[in-house]
Amino acid sequence: MSRGSEFLNCQYPIICGAMTWVSDPKLIAAVANNGGFGCLAGGNAPVEILKQQVEEVRALTDKPFGVNLITIAPAYKEHLKILKELKLDYIVFAGSFPRADEIAVAKETGAKVMCFASTLSIAKRMVRFGADAIILEGSEAGGHIGHVSATVLMQQVLFEIGDDIPVFMAGGIATGKMMAHTLLMGAAGVQLGTRFVMTDECCAHEKFKTVFKRANARDAISTPQYDSSLPVVAVRALRNKGLNGFGQLQLKLLKKLGAGEISREFAQEEVETFWMGALRKAVIDGDVENGSLMAGQSVGLVDKIVPVSELIAELINDASSALENIKNKLNTI
Ligand SMILES: Cc1cc2nc3c(=O)[nH]c(=O)nc-3n(C[C@H](O)[C@H](O)[C@H](O)COP(=O)(O)O)c2cc1C
Repeated sequence: MSRGSEFLNCQYPIICGAMTWVSDPKLIAAVANNGGFGCLAGGNAPVEILKQQVEEVRALTDKPFGVNLITIAPAYKEHLKILKELKLDYIVFAGSFPRADEIAVAKETGAKVMCFASTLSIAKRMVRFGADAIILEGSEAGGHIGHVSATVLMQQVLFEIGDDIPVFMAGGIATGKMMAHTLLMGAAGVQLGTRFVMTDECCAHEKFKTVFKRANARDAISTPQYDSSLPVVAVRALRNKGLNGFGQLQLKLLKKLGAGEISREFAQEEVETFWMGALRKAVIDGDVENGSLMAGQSVGLVDKIVPVSELIAELINDASSALENIKNKLNTI
């Protein structure tokens, strides 16, 4: 575990991924204070809110943490401009993929830069652009996703570049045993989202957590793209009325696009605004019918709400026992 911990400058290479509306200062500080590494979900926030949230985390912990920047968010350009002032230790680019000059701006501030990848070519491009680490996320994950599963990505990307640069695996990881095997395959650490929703310190509405508790892995489905004239990033969420609303939105936007009433960029912005609002409705207001229940397939592996300290201790204990078991098995060969 030391490679990932040294990179993240924390005790355990367990990242609580940025989750819009969910990964707030309280959750991030709780993760950091219990030996993990949290990533603040500031990417969709206006500049002043982002600044305020960074200060809130700093007031709650003196440990390092990451800040999520979302390249397709309305305030992204403004976020890049204030990076020098924010003096962040770690910046995690998400959304689409950052340009080389944007990564350079982040690195000039002294921050370590982590970038998502969902294919080998993207991972290689991010490394070429200067990323210090890669978050390799399989399509099992919750929220906005790529199309390739973690098992295939491990073989295509982790085995290929995992020795050259720290690669943190995300998507579908919910147990210490899985964490141990992921590390054995060459990952520097793991990033979890769905499981951190199910903690006491997570601000998500009780109804949101209750739905997670009852859901099966197969309930977390990914959204389709109806037509190539309106490219949309797939989202994995639990099926409900809110998810159907996305289908209706696509149809409405496609009609207007076809009639030349709106541009493709405008339509894509509408889509992102829809997700932001729908997620807020479910996470903050507890409207689990009409809001978006973004969740990974690992939702089928969680059935209890625990303090962050307990979750991290469980992951580390179970990972350690799994590694010990493997060692014993190998010793008997
Ligand atoms: C409710 C929810 C919201 C998310 N929002 C974001 C986000 O704003 N930025 C981001 O980089 N990833 C986001 N993610 C992805 C997580 O950071 C993480 O990579 C993912 O949840 C890992 O897969 P898992 O859910 O199977 O653990 C979100 C995931 C969930 C479940």
